[in-house]
Amino acid sequence: MDEERIISASEQNNDKTWDLTLRPQTLDEYIGQTKIKANLDIVLRAAKERKEAVDHVLLFGPPGLGKTTLAHIIAKEMGVGIKVTSGPAISKAGDLAAIITNLQDGDILFIDEIHRLNKTIEEILYPAMEDFALDIILGKGPSAQILRLDLPRFTIIGATTRYNLISSPLRDRFGVTFRLNFYDHDELADIVKRSADILAVPIEGQAQMEIASRSRATPRIANRILKRVRDYAQVKAGGDVSLDVTKKALNLMAIDKHGLDDLDRKLLKVLVENFAGGPVGIGTLAAALQEESGTIEEIFEPYLMQLGFLSRTSKGRVATEKTYEYLEATKNQEKEQNQLF
Ligand code: ADE
Repeated sequence: MDEERIISASEQNNDKTWDLTLRPQTLDEYIGQTKIKANLDIVLRAAKERKEAVDHVLLFGPPGLGKTTLAHIIAKEMGVGIKVTSGPAISKAGDLAAIITNLQDGDILFIDEIHRLNKTIEEILYPAMEDFALDIILGKGPSAQILRLDLPRFTIIGATTRYNLISSPLRDRFGVTFRLNFYDHDELADIVKRSADILAVPIEGQAQMEIASRSRATPRIANRILKRVRDYAQVKAGGDVSLDVTKKALNLMAIDKHGLDDLDRKLLKVLVENFAGGPVGIGTLAAALQEESGTIEEIFEPYLMQLGFLSRTSKGRVATEKTYEYLEATKNQEKEQNQLF
């Protein structure tokens, strides 16, 4: 269900080509995440000066905040190649061996969703990360032999939305770990402005801010909304993206001023109306919404918690005072709108 939402932070099919044009290429072009940028700048410069591969880097945080973008920037800044794969895509030891043995010295192996690597692969990765060696077992039983292959000095950049699902031996092998945070409105407005410039979309400053404030603090969503608002402006308003046009387009998409859509409102309503505001276990809540618990934890909850509309406690999910205020305000708005029509 989440895949179809405009405000889903997960990557959708047509985000890919879109990302390629809009994705910043250097740390300078990258907006926001200032602390990460400052730290990364030092790490990269130091590695360059020593003519060494960068330490393995682990990036974690909610989807759509720029983990993949940062990995590409690191490769570009270091002037090295990057091979992109993901945890679920590496199912056999041979897959991993084929990828790693084809890397050059200094190259980057980007593993998205690294928390989904299977145990066997993870164990092969340990010596690869630590000693740049791959132990291949030849044969079975007592006559089995271990063949040690030397590997190029490479860098793994792991990305995950679920830090707590990464085993501690794997975590420990990353020299650098960064947690990406949600973006503030000013940063997002800058991103919208940058994207609009690249796409040659004329957009008012207030319209940039409006998109920023309704994009769930997430650049991927801001860029996606910009595209939809551009379409709306083209069809309904001769192309100029004004504040008024932006508001109308966003209202048509049922995205409210906090960036919440019908599915978020349903989650909050179910929590309040079916479970008396909680605490309710994630499994129970997921079943009531006919969603997977993982989707709720990864996609819905981080932003709702950021807004203060939901708390996670040891007993389960709980509505907050703000949840009640929000639902009340939404109800009143719906009433007003119904009276208008
Ligand atoms: N596009 C998507 N994320 C971005 C970022 N953090 N900075 C600049 N442009 C972006």
